Amino acid sequence: MSPCPKVELHLHLEGAAPPTFIRDLAKKKSVNLTGVFDRDGGYAFRDFGHFLTVYDAACSVLKTPEDYHRLTLAVLEEQAQQGVIYTEAFLSPEFCGGGDLGAWREYVAAIREAAELAFARDGTRLRGIVTAIRHLGPDAARITARCAAETAGDWVVGFGLAGDERKGRPRDYVWSFDMVREAGLSLTAHAGEWGGAASVRDALDDLGVSRIGHGVRAIEDPALVERLVREGVVLEVCPGSNIALGVYPRWKDHPIERLRAAGVPVTVSTDDPPFFKTTLTAEYAHLAETFGWEDETVRAVNQTAARAAFCDDATKTTLLSLLEPQDD
Ligand code: ADE
Ligand code: ZN
Repeated sequence: MSPCPKVELHLHLEGAAPPTFIRDLAKKKSVNLTGVFDRDGGYAFRDFGHFLTVYDAACSVLKTPEDYHRLTLAVLEEQAQQGVIYTEAFLSPEFCGGGDLGAWREYVAAIREAAELAFARDGTRLRGIVTAIRHLGPDAARITARCAAETAGDWVVGFGLAGDERKGRPRDYVWSFDMVREAGLSLTAHAGEWGGAASVRDALDDLGVSRIGHGVRAIEDPALVERLVREGVVLEVCPGSNIALGVYPRWKDHPIERLRAAGVPVTVSTDDPPFFKTTLTAEYAHLAETFGWEDETVRAVNQTAARAAFCDDATKTTLLSLLEPQDD
């Protein structure tokens, strides 16, 4: 039986790189990745800070548009296997050309070309969200925002903020978010992962985002939960990531079901699946086991994701029809 169709809104392209892909590339390029892998060949990290360090080290082997072309093909092959019909992936000019606009255009072209091949091969779709990295600071974010604005269109559809939420404040990034909004991009920001409810509120108030990456710690403030419901703010929830990184100790402690029951529009994603030894299918299996999610719940959550996607309306309509039960 083919896996049920899914829409994934929160996936870091580099974070989805299979460890074998990174290891093989490192070997080919003679890059030393000591400390990146555990004994079983998976990614090794102790906590969130160390995760970010290991993530950067793994990314250091991705040096050319051709590397990203191959990476995109590998990631989308896995997405197709998981039944993912549409993915929004975070991409960073910091990793793709170091903020140089000409280089960034070449990386985007290579990733798009791979996405077209994957669509022809498997029918899975990809769109890009250009993402500033918070711990690199507001000046780097401005360069990223310029790259985003210059490539905004039917494929680069959004702008986001990832990285270490414990560093700086959303208001430091207002200039970048204002300029990409002007360029027509839709907006999301990581918040409420390492920061509490106030961090989510700041992202909404200062950056004007329509979606929040993670956002789960909004549960700590009932008034904020009510606001998310009232304003229809969509959360890109990544439960397996939160558990692997220690935001919550066990699946039963995760607030996704409480947020959903309160009426918050929640969606489900994997963030950096090989790092967290998860897949989107595994996430839904845990949600079924822990919170009794049935097929109807899964379909409704994916419909929420399709409606909240940053792509054009015609694509959303296609996604919604693919999420309908099929007769075969
Ligand atoms: N970049 C990749 N994964 C991330 C996460 N879970 N939080 C913040 N930045 C990230
Ligand atoms: Zn993320």
